[in-house]
Amino acid sequence: MNSTLEFNDSSITVALVGCGGFIGSHLLRAIFERTGWRVFGVDLDSYRIQEHLANPRFEFLSADLADPEVVKRIAQYPVVVNLAAICTPGRYMAESAEVIRSNYDHPRALADACAQSGSWLIHFSTSEIYGKTAANSGALVEDESEIVFGPVAASRWSYATAKLLTERYLAGLDGLHWTVVRPFNFVGPFMDFMPGVDGDGIPRVLANFSTALVRGETLKLVNGGVAKRCFTSVHDAVDFMFCLFAAGECAFSQAFNVGNAANEVSIAELAQLMRSVYAAIKGVHENEVSGVEVISGEEYYGKGYDDSLRRMPSVEKAERLVGFKAKIPLKTALEESLTWFAHHYG
Ligand code: UGA
Repeated sequence: MNSTLEFNDSSITVALVGCGGFIGSHLLRAIFERTGWRVFGVDLDSYRIQEHLANPRFEFLSADLADPEVVKRIAQYPVVVNLAAICTPGRYMAESAEVIRSNYDHPRALADACAQSGSWLIHFSTSEIYGKTAANSGALVEDESEIVFGPVAASRWSYATAKLLTERYLAGLDGLHWTVVRPFNFVGPFMDFMPGVDGDGIPRVLANFSTALVRGETLKLVNGGVAKRCFTSVHDAVDFMFCLFAAGECAFSQAFNVGNAANEVSIAELAQLMRSVYAAIKGVHENEVSGVEVISGEEYYGKGYDDSLRRMPSVEKAERLVGFKAKIPLKTALEESLTWFAHHYG
């Protein structure tokens, strides 16, 4: 790969694995809007990206990384972004083996192919690799924080274990140009699914609370909703990717937290904020929208559920090395997401 990626260079093709997912669909649109690049996109699902299927700059392949021929094809391109993952905690317990295959075996095969071809592999990992953080843990620092997972019986950690092993594999693979992205609870339109409509099981908290609000059901606060997260707009996440593309070689062999530390809330506070945003969208009083109810993690998700109590990123490295700082406040991100959700599914 050249040391820099010129945004107006129409000879560049970027491979996007998982281009039809929540983050992938936003990144795909932004690449078409902000650059002259072509995209080779791979996904099993294309419902979020229908508007691009006829774009002459886009080649879409309905496939996944389980196919070695597909892996070989992807690795022909100079920049490969891998966003494919099973990343809903509802599945980590009952489908641990499949979660590990999808989050370790498949990315590992892609890394091997990129090491051979010389492609720059930008791998989406997770903030969950920081593990079982305590309520009083401080900011999580990419190259410093200690990592503790729960016991094997706490199968919640199957996903984080696979993701961390993938990170270690990339870092140890001779000749690979790699960058790791650790997302901190990205939110925005098209996140996850509405259970029973376009997916089954339990989506992540934004889609779950949005579903409850639209259906007039109670919002479930797992273990009282005391866990804290730093929710980050997907538009900030996309901006980070352009900072990364511009940084090129300077970002090789680095893992980056991508998050908005200013947006930290407990899940109980998130529920309250979403109730008030939804009431404003509907033009009704807050008392007229769904209330909350406390439920245990095991009752809600099943045996083996465990949690990180605080997940707050250090954002210093992304700012220092690639010049990125998240800007979008939580309320703005929730207004956009809930307006979209109510319109899309309402
Ligand atoms: C998940 C994934 O496991 C991570 O890999 C991913 O990076 C992260 O989402 C993300 O979106 O970035 P987590 O933050 O635990 O991790 O995801 P959620 O399922 O959205 O849960 C957040 C918190 O809300 C947890 O404490 C959970 O117990 C709670 N929750 C969730 C509720 O109280 N009610 C719900 O209906 C859903």
